[in-house]
Amino acid sequence: MATKVLMVCLGNICRSPLAEGVFRHLSDPSNFIVDSAGTANYHTGAAPDSRSIAVAAKNGINISNQKARQLTRDDIATFDHILVMDQQNRIDALALCNTQEERHKIELLTSSSGHNTSHVPDPYYGDENDFDTVFELVYSCCEAWLTKH
Ligand code: 4NP
Repeated sequence: MATKVLMVCLGNICRSPLAEGVFRHLSDPSNFIVDSAGTANYHTGAAPDSRSIAVAAKNGINISNQKARQLTRDDIATFDHILVMDQQNRIDALALCNTQEERHKIELLTSSSGHNTSHVPDPYYGDENDFDTVFELVYSCCEAWLTKH
């Protein structure tokens, strides 16, 4: 059975849509199902940020069809791995967990990479360069994660 992976950030419009798109691009669909969600509901129903769409497109990945949604209790039960972008996402996702088994599903996307970076920085108030940085980081973290699973 395919392993279910959920990418989580705050708004589900900048980082986790990129992580979802990159992960899908790099993985075998018969082995992995990937989705994304945000801990907040600010942008529910919205397409990814135009700067995320642009950096993905520049790298041959189309994320424009994604729609933002909020992380739910159901997600925690359903997904096998919940890969969060930063420590606050981790705290918010852990707050939805009921069991130790569920808490073990929550991990930082950056934790399996060789990077010194402890989190994927929020590019929302940044510029195009910040989105390039996020793309490169997310890409290498997804590659590293997939070599371990
Ligand atoms: P994301 O970025 O968590 O990577 O999707 C953000 C998007 C929106 C906001 C913050 C971060 N916001 O405050 O609206």
